Amino acid sequence: MNGLAEGMQINAVTGGIGAEISGVDIAEELSGETIAAIRQALLDHLVVFFRDQDITPEQQIAFVKHFGEPDIYPFVKGLDEHPEITPILKLPEETINFGGIWHSDTVYLKNPPMGTVLYAKELPPMGGDTLFANQYAAYDNLSAPLREFLDGLTAVNSAAKGSAATTRSDRVADAGTGEEEVLEAEHPAVRTHPETGRKALFVNFGHTVRFKGMTKAESTPILEYLFQHQIKPEYSCRFIWSPGALAFWDNRCAQHYPVNDYHGYKRLLHRITLKGDKPF
Ligand code: SIN
Repeated sequence: MNGLAEGMQINAVTGGIGAEISGVDIAEELSGETIAAIRQALLDHLVVFFRDQDITPEQQIAFVKHFGEPDIYPFVKGLDEHPEITPILKLPEETINFGGIWHSDTVYLKNPPMGTVLYAKELPPMGGDTLFANQYAAYDNLSAPLREFLDGLTAVNSAAKGSAATTRSDRVADAGTGEEEVLEAEHPAVRTHPETGRKALFVNFGHTVRFKGMTKAESTPILEYLFQHQIKPEYSCRFIWSPGALAFWDNRCAQHYPVNDYHGYKRLLHRITLKGDKPF
């Protein structure tokens, strides 16, 4: 397989974040050029979207492996035959949606994922969109003194932060694994992206509890400000899912928020996270 996929196009969806890639069939064998172009689009736009894909779990795993190594999610059991695929499920009778807060995936791990690939299996007739926010822009748009202050800080991130733990409670109950292990990791509050060299704000509402060396009382007002600032519409986009849509985001510089506005309907997506390195 040589050359770029015929008809491949990359179109930004906003001025702040996100691009839709068309003319690529993920079920087909992809050329090195096409894979490189997708990777570059991910680095440029932080999240890329594909429409109308018809792929099996094996094909989703094969796609992910072009970009890294699939990881295992610590709290919810993956598919029996493919433990690296986590079903992101909300049933019609449920009111809580998985991950339904602004967050970066599993930053309470020492090596949080570099990215996530999410594939739509069953969607509600309306709603259930996912928002994304650009954390380079969030950092760049802070004042110079605040950037300098944050540059020297370490953030403490916990899986046990109440709001995040609640969003996975239905699925953890399904798994019947009982008490959750408390996972916690310290990472720079501002990380340098290992591929682009750009600085990104690396605290998030879902998991960041305080700054190292500072009390909760001291950290909270600063974090509250950052949680509001980092999701401004100017740095964000909203992805309206459609059958067979797939999103691939860079977890090192983008955050996301699945909107919980479809009670009474089922929503099921297949998620794979890609192993990442230690933030610096
Ligand atoms: C997640 O946080 O991985 C879930 C995103 C979504 O359901 O849109």
